[in-house]
Amino acid sequence: MEKISLLQQERAKYRPKLPGIFTGEVSVRAVEGEKTESVADQETVHTLFPKTYGLPLITFEPSEKKTSEPVNVGVILSGGQAPGGHNVISGLFDGLKVLNPNNRLYGFLGGPGGLVENKYRELTADIINAYRNTGGFDIIGSGRTKLEKEEQFDKGLENLKALGIKALVIIGGDDSNTNAGILAEYYQKINAGVQVIGCPKTIDGDLKNEMIEVSFGFDTATKVYSELIGNIARDALSAKKYWHFIKLMGRSASHIALECGLKTQPNITLISEEVEAKGMTLGDIVDEIAGIIVKRAKKGKHFGIVLIPEGLIEFIPEMKVLIGELNDVMARRVSELDSTDNPDEKRSLVSSMLSDKTGALYASLPEDIADQLIMDRDPHGNVQVSRIETEKLLIEMVGEKLKVLKEKGEYTGKFSAQNHFFGYEGRCAAPSNFDADYAYALGYTASALIGAGKTGYMSSVRNLTAPASKWITGGVPLTMMMNIERRHGEDKPVIRKALVDLEGKPFQMLKKQRDQWAVETCYVYPGPIQYFGPEDVTDQRSETLILEHE
Ligand code: FBP
Repeated sequence: MEKISLLQQERAKYRPKLPGIFTGEVSVRAVEGEKTESVADQETVHTLFPKTYGLPLITFEPSEKKTSEPVNVGVILSGGQAPGGHNVISGLFDGLKVLNPNNRLYGFLGGPGGLVENKYRELTADIINAYRNTGGFDIIGSGRTKLEKEEQFDKGLENLKALGIKALVIIGGDDSNTNAGILAEYYQKINAGVQVIGCPKTIDGDLKNEMIEVSFGFDTATKVYSELIGNIARDALSAKKYWHFIKLMGRSASHIALECGLKTQPNITLISEEVEAKGMTLGDIVDEIAGIIVKRAKKGKHFGIVLIPEGLIEFIPEMKVLIGELNDVMARRVSELDSTDNPDEKRSLVSSMLSDKTGALYASLPEDIADQLIMDRDPHGNVQVSRIETEKLLIEMVGEKLKVLKEKGEYTGKFSAQNHFFGYEGRCAAPSNFDADYAYALGYTASALIGAGKTGYMSSVRNLTAPASKWITGGVPLTMMMNIERRHGEDKPVIRKALVDLEGKPFQMLKKQRDQWAVETCYVYPGPIQYFGPEDVTDQRSETLILEHE
């Protein structure tokens, strides 16, 4: 038998807290609210989604207990792992069984590709039970195949029909849910008889809006990173010899860095959105960090913590132009670029393909970074920012700057730095109570949307700072979250990504305190996630969620 840890054995017994509407001996009925509009570009989005545009918001109300016709449902995990994925699936499974014990759930393997390639497994109670409250996506695996072509939709439909599947749940981030919306529209258009429901997943925290308060996974991942940052901060304070440069996952948005900054109070928390708004160059960022190092050195403090959001490089205006030109060159001149494998030749070839100013910037970058910037894009066209070592770049540049300051007599300290990157450490952690409950509720709500015959909706659970019993469940039309953006040189409908709002309370809270945190030492040590113990510790919400609710 597979060995499982003692904690996992205890954690398997945890029963996620359900929203009040789903407890007791009642069924639910869907209540239609107001008709919706997309967040922007209403006319264009409407034209592209004639069937699913303008759907009303859905909430659930108690109704008499009744059993619906049996239905087979498919589920897909899409994109990067996020703690709670297994609980979405167990919530979906349990909700479907309450609707009708003969309902069946099939998981497509390895992400959206599994639907097209017809790779699946039936998820029975035994399988589901072994995965309750565990981290990871390994119950069925995940992948980044982009579902976008009609051939894929038709092939998928063939496979769904063969299994008698009438509804498909796609658990993913903004890109995957955009594709869920396109699939829902297409299946409506051809009268396929398959409902499509999305669920908001991503540790990045960038899939949120008026109706979706947070994606599942953000809470646990930021708690894991904050524990590690707190431990490093205490080490820095004890040893007093290193500056730690810590890059944090999160793709473009800086929500993870901001949340961890609020939790641990490091000396510096860079926020990409602010860097862009202020039009800061790489040199400006280096000057800012070096300035704080000098100030601390004057107080005899030769140590510190710097948090760097993963996507920083994309937000530095000059780098943004560079990445834009690189994307273009890499899409249009593949065969020329493939003509050499020699890294030096490749770099000079790339430089020669860029405009003069941008080519010069590219040529001035350290070789590692220049190579990392021309690595393959992901299937959605995103630069793989997790593979760009911004933390090392900054250490190198700050070190150079401090040498200059030392020569001028403006700095007398010794700069010794360590680099870290936290991302994969948190994506598959056992979900916190919040994520275990929230993810389970999202899955359960998805089953209710299926039971109500809805398609083109994202499962939504709101009022999340309140106890779970008071959570409000429902559905938000996928088209409501869309706008038109330029992707691969074309205008495309996409779910709008939520970046850090510089006027919002979480950032303002950081801004108010960061000057003090920079020069003094105000570290907070959050410690590991607690699964047992006092509720205010086990069920604490993220700072971001609390502040956004105030
Ligand atoms: P999603 O948008 O798919 O949830 O991505 C989450 C994420 O962890 C990002 O923070 C990170 O940039 C990316 O995945 C890394 O991707 P990969 O797993 O392919 O290395």
